[in-house]
Amino acid sequence: ENTLHAAAQQSGRYFGTAIAAQKLGDSTYTSIANREFGMITAENEMKIDALQPNQGQFNFSNGDRVYNWAVQNGKRVRGHTLAWHSQQPEWMRNLRGSSLRQAMINHINGVMAHYKGKIYAWDVVNEAFADGNSGGRRDSNLQQTGNDWIEVAFRTARAADPAAKLCYNDYNIDNWNWAKTQAVYNMVRDFKQRGVPIDCVGLQSHFNSNSPYNSNYRTTIQSFAALGVDVQITELDIQGGSATTYANVVNDCLAVSRCTGITVWGVRDSDSWLGASATALLFDGNGNKKAAYNSVLNAL
Ligand code: XIL
Repeated sequence: ENTLHAAAQQSGRYFGTAIAAQKLGDSTYTSIANREFGMITAENEMKIDALQPNQGQFNFSNGDRVYNWAVQNGKRVRGHTLAWHSQQPEWMRNLRGSSLRQAMINHINGVMAHYKGKIYAWDVVNEAFADGNSGGRRDSNLQQTGNDWIEVAFRTARAADPAAKLCYNDYNIDNWNWAKTQAVYNMVRDFKQRGVPIDCVGLQSHFNSNSPYNSNYRTTIQSFAALGVDVQITELDIQGGSATTYANVVNDCLAVSRCTGITVWGVRDSDSWLGASATALLFDGNGNKKAAYNSVLNAL
C-alpha cells in the first residue's frame, strides 16, 4: 500500500489526522489529507467553546464543516471533546457547582444528539488528571463539582449515543512508569469493575524532550487493552520528527490487537500547534513526505 490509511487498513486499523476548518480552502492541505488519512479529528471545531459559545445556544457550523468534509471524502470522525477544563466558553468558565455539573450534562446531550450515530469515538473527558507525581486529579471547575464528574460524563454520553465508542483521552500517560499513567489506569480499571461505560483510552502521545517516547509505551498500550478497552493514539506528534521514534510508536500499536488506530495532530509541520520549527509531523511545510513518513508507512 502507498498511503498511510490504506497501509493501516491491512491490519484493520485506521490512520488519521487533525483537520482545521479554516484550512479546507488550501488545496495542498486537503489533497494530502484526503489521500493519506481515513479518520478525522476536528482540531478545535468540536470543542466546548466552538459548539456552545453562549449557554443554551449551540453552533455547529464549523464542526459540521470538518465533519462534512470528512464524510464526503469517505472518512470516519473522532469527536473531540465533550468535557475538558480548557477551551471552555466564558460562561462555562464562570460556572461552579451544580449549575456547572448540569451544564456539562446539557453540553454532552446537545452535542451528541446533533452527531448521533455519526461519530466513531468521542473523547468524552479530556485531560482530567494532574501532571507530576501526585496521581491525583487536575484541579478545575469540573473537578470541583465532585470526583464523580468523570463517570457522570461517561454515563450521560452512553445514553446520548449508544453507537459511539466512549474514550478517556490524556497526555503524559504514555510512559508506564509515570504516576499519571497509573492514576488513569486505576480509574479505567475501577470503571470496568463497576460497570461505568468506557470503551477506549486515547493516548495523545505528544512526545518531546520533557516527555520523550519510552520503550515501555508498548507495556502501557498492552496494560490498558488488558482492562478490556480499545487504545487509540489520538494526537501523535514527535518534536524533531525522529523517523525511528515514529516507527517505534507504530510498531508498539501494531503489537497490540486492541490498539485500533493512530491519529497525527496535523498534516504538515507548518500546520502543527507546536509551530513549524518543531518539525513534529510527517509532511514538511511544502507538503513533501519526510523521512518519518516513509518510516511510518514501512512500519504499518
Ligand atoms: C490544540 C490545538 O491544536 C490548537 O490549535 C489550540 O490552540 C489548542 O489546542 N491536547 C488536546 C488538543 O487535547 O485539543 C490540543 O489541541 C493539543 C493538546
